[in-house]
Amino acid sequence: MAAKKRLFTGLQPSGALHIGNYFGTLKPLLEMYEGYESFLCVVDYHALTTVRDGALMKVNIRQMAGDFMALGFDPAKGTLFKQSDAPEHTELAWILNCLVSVPFLELGHAYKDAAGKGKEATAGLFTYPVLMASDIVLYDTDVVPVGEDQRQHIEYARDIASKFNHVFGETFKLPKESILKAVAVVPGTDGRKMSKSYGNTIPLFASREQIIAAVMSIVTDSTGDRPENVYAIHRLLKSEGELESLYGANKGKYKALKEALIEDLDAHFKPIRERRLSISDGEIDTVLAAGAKRAREVASAKMKEVREKIGVNL
Ligand code: ADP
Ligand code: TRP
Repeated sequence: MAAKKRLFTGLQPSGALHIGNYFGTLKPLLEMYEGYESFLCVVDYHALTTVRDGALMKVNIRQMAGDFMALGFDPAKGTLFKQSDAPEHTELAWILNCLVSVPFLELGHAYKDAAGKGKEATAGLFTYPVLMASDIVLYDTDVVPVGEDQRQHIEYARDIASKFNHVFGETFKLPKESILKAVAVVPGTDGRKMSKSYGNTIPLFASREQIIAAVMSIVTDSTGDRPENVYAIHRLLKSEGELESLYGANKGKYKALKEALIEDLDAHFKPIRERRLSISDGEIDTVLAAGAKRAREVASAKMKEVREKIGVNL
């Protein structure tokens, strides 16, 4: 049997997940990772570009890993680890930093946005794409499943890897992105894209009370028969056919439709909410420790080759 292709992706530990993250990237990722030899990395050093609170970082790392386990990730079928446990990632990032030019990195969207908004643009944010390239190429990755917003970062990874290959000889595989096709951009409670930064989210692990509060706050316009912002979220859970009779029978009755959405969200996410509550920090730490061991087997072998190529292994 041919060996499985390698998949690598990074999960930012940056706080509570919302249903936009779930339907946009996590659900499609969970549907594909078993078909590959998968490395799923909680990218804490990337998060350090924004999180400057050690206690919060710790909480966020366990939250990301634990949430992913509750959503169905099986440690027997893939490697879940945290980036800082494999120092090869930052070691390689330095080496690659010595190959890329400043003007090349100045084209990065994330950096341009931050600098354009007058935010503090740290050297870490500037070289963020280089650390991400290191994550990916260390594992001879074939595919990188990411949201559309990450496309440029994968192009960076390919460019940086081919630069290294050109200078030091064939070493890295050139990775391909696999753009996770969201059913649609998930709208938030105010109708804009659901996003932490807009405060319009429905948290993925919300309690029933939180679901009620979020759904009741969905903005509805009074023009049509159908509250579009309610319908768009409902559509993620049910087919058009299933919704036709409900919305047909409740024309203009926004409150009844919101109540139906509350019941459906609650029922849909109840099992993962309960599974999440059953996963202890100890269990998460055990999975991450085993993941780190496996990741380092691959990463350290690759780094040995890199050190040979650049001439620091005497
Ligand atoms: P936020 O906008 O809340 O900060 P992130 O940027 O952390 O979310 O998103 C992580 C991933 O989840 C992204 O790769 C993106 O593709 C996906 N995602 C986020 N919000 C949505 C949404 N509203 N609809 C679909 N996918 C989304
Ligand atoms: N930049 C990615 C994001 O914000 C996270 C990430 C870091 C990543 N390293 C990666 C994604 C490697 C894919 C592969 O979502």
